[in-house]
Amino acid sequence: MTQTIRWGVLGCADIAARAVIPAIQSSRLGRVVAIASRDAGKAKEMAARFGIARAYGSYEELLADPEIDAIYNPLPNHLHVPLTIKALEHGKPVLCEKPIALDATQAMELAAAQKAAGLPVAEAFMVRHHPQWKRARAVIAEGRLGEVRAIQTIFSYYLDDPGNVRNQADIGGGGLFDVGCYAINTARFLFDAEPLQAIALMERDPVFGTDRLTSGMLGFPHGRQLVFTCSTQLALTQKVTVLGTRGRIEIPIPFNAPADASTVIVVDDGRDLSGGGRELIAVDPVDQYREQADAFASAILTGEPLPAGLDDAIANMKVIDALVRSATSGRWETP
Ligand SMILES: NC(=O)c1ccc[n+]([C@@H]2O[C@H](COP(=O)([O-])OP(=O)(O)OC[C@H]3O[C@@H](n4cnc5c(N)ncnc54)[C@H](OP(=O)(O)O)[C@@H]3O)[C@@H](O)[C@H]2O)c1
Repeated sequence: MTQTIRWGVLGCADIAARAVIPAIQSSRLGRVVAIASRDAGKAKEMAARFGIARAYGSYEELLADPEIDAIYNPLPNHLHVPLTIKALEHGKPVLCEKPIALDATQAMELAAAQKAAGLPVAEAFMVRHHPQWKRARAVIAEGRLGEVRAIQTIFSYYLDDPGNVRNQADIGGGGLFDVGCYAINTARFLFDAEPLQAIALMERDPVFGTDRLTSGMLGFPHGRQLVFTCSTQLALTQKVTVLGTRGRIEIPIPFNAPADASTVIVVDDGRDLSGGGRELIAVDPVDQYREQADAFASAILTGEPLPAGLDDAIANMKVIDALVRSATSGRWETP
């Protein structure tokens, strides 16, 4: 294997064009060398646009290319597990978009295939690679917030295009899968624990059948709580507040931190309501997608374990499953 990872990309996904391919092309340890689409013309166009050497008119051809070291899978959610398993069968590690599967059972099938292949697979929660989250965790670990007991997360945007994958229930659309998964992932990261109970309220789009508004609560050990709201049909916004007995952190752009501008996290000791105890911690610009690509490439090249592998993805999926069950049962469910 070369010292640079040669990536192949499945599908001409918006997220691939908007963020991940440019990030890999400017990464330290990788280059995209091939792209596949169900439409060969689209693959050719994307290849020309991003300086990608080979374009394929089917995913199968790309997976069979022996000169590819890793696959990026940004297909719709229902194709995450099947195509990632296919890639593993071709001996290729996979960075797969979130959520890793449609449910935890499917995620565990993937884990069995991954174990059999002995190759890395990661769920593309790029936020874990942004230093603002590491900084927030460090502030908590230093004890500056006292005892951290609650997290509140909001993540919403307005999108009513019926053709968008997010508005198609049968292929894994809806707000909980698309953005609620970040609230769960980052709360698990900050609390460094798994929730014991989950409850959710879902409101579905009458035409799409997808959850367009989901609010949920997770109960973590020692009485700690996450409360979140996510939506595909509310004004664009995102925010995380972490509350402790002696202070709070606010992360104003928690999930889509820009690659070319600093972000800030706000630490406030709560001495008054006018910001008298507020400190702004600036975080230098970072392309979280590039960090993610390099972390994955590094795991392949060094054989070192990934910072978060499939165990973490399965744990996240179990929480999503519990919230989905709760939205139907109206009761607390156990992840
Ligand atoms: N980490 C992040 O920041 C982030 C951001 C956005 C989205 N995502 C994730 O990335 C994935 C793709 O999202 P996206 O918004 O980029 O979607 P998208 O633009 O619709 O791209 C999905 C691609 O999958 C292929 N595809 C295969 N079967 C399909 C089908 N039945 N319907 C639609 N497309 C199909 C298409 O490629 P071809 O036609 O070329 O084959 C399509 O371009 C999702 O899992 C989403 O959760 C992650």
